[in-house]
Amino acid sequence: MKRIRLAPSMMCADFIRLKPELDLFAKQKIDFLHIDIMDGHFVPNFTLGPGICRALASYSAIPLDIHLMIENVDSYVAAFAESPGVYLSFHPEAVYHPLRTIDCIRNAGATPGVAIDPATPVDAIRHLIADVELVCVMTVNPGYSGQSLIPQTIDKIGELRDMSERFNHTVLIEVDGNVSWQNIPAMLRAGADVLVLGTSSLYDREASLGANVGRLRTMIAECQSG
Ligand code: DX5
Ligand code: ZN
Repeated sequence: MKRIRLAPSMMCADFIRLKPELDLFAKQKIDFLHIDIMDGHFVPNFTLGPGICRALASYSAIPLDIHLMIENVDSYVAAFAESPGVYLSFHPEAVYHPLRTIDCIRNAGATPGVAIDPATPVDAIRHLIADVELVCVMTVNPGYSGQSLIPQTIDKIGELRDMSERFNHTVLIEVDGNVSWQNIPAMLRAGADVLVLGTSSLYDREASLGANVGRLRTMIAECQSG
């Protein structure tokens, strides 16, 4: 049975209570801390930065999954690549030469990934998929938590799975945006490996974080057995 990875979206965390949240994630064997980096240019918002990445990595052994939603990616790779085991993803829409950026990320010691906007066709990454280890399929427009799913993005998950098989190169397929109780089954059926968990599931304030992790595990097990 394939392991579905859980990646809490740290922009949705309670910053006053980060330590207990991180302790819970460690106890629950959470796979990644998903960290959204925004620059107010590529996306119309600001969120986290290198300081919080450093702080999280110094306290938690859970690998960082850093999602750059910024321009001038090459200039900032070094600042984000420094913690051990970092996955560093960027938007190819935001750079002139994505293969050069991928080299830059590898040379800095991080594992490269790409994130694609809902309107970017999967085919846009055909010539770079074999060079990355993770593809993040944005299922909402990048920039904000709490948005609604853009339904046509679900088909892109299967297209990516087919493309990675054609190239005989395994990538982690991550879904990011409104990964909700309602949408998770379709995302898993389509072939998602990593779930970015924000306000619509893990940080659904109707229940505790611990209860929501349990609900996620049960839902994943049911999807995999059914
Ligand atoms: C942007 C973020 C958001 C968000 C996900 O890249 O990763 O998509 O926090 O959580 P939701 O959409 O459930 O609030
Ligand atoms: Zn993200």
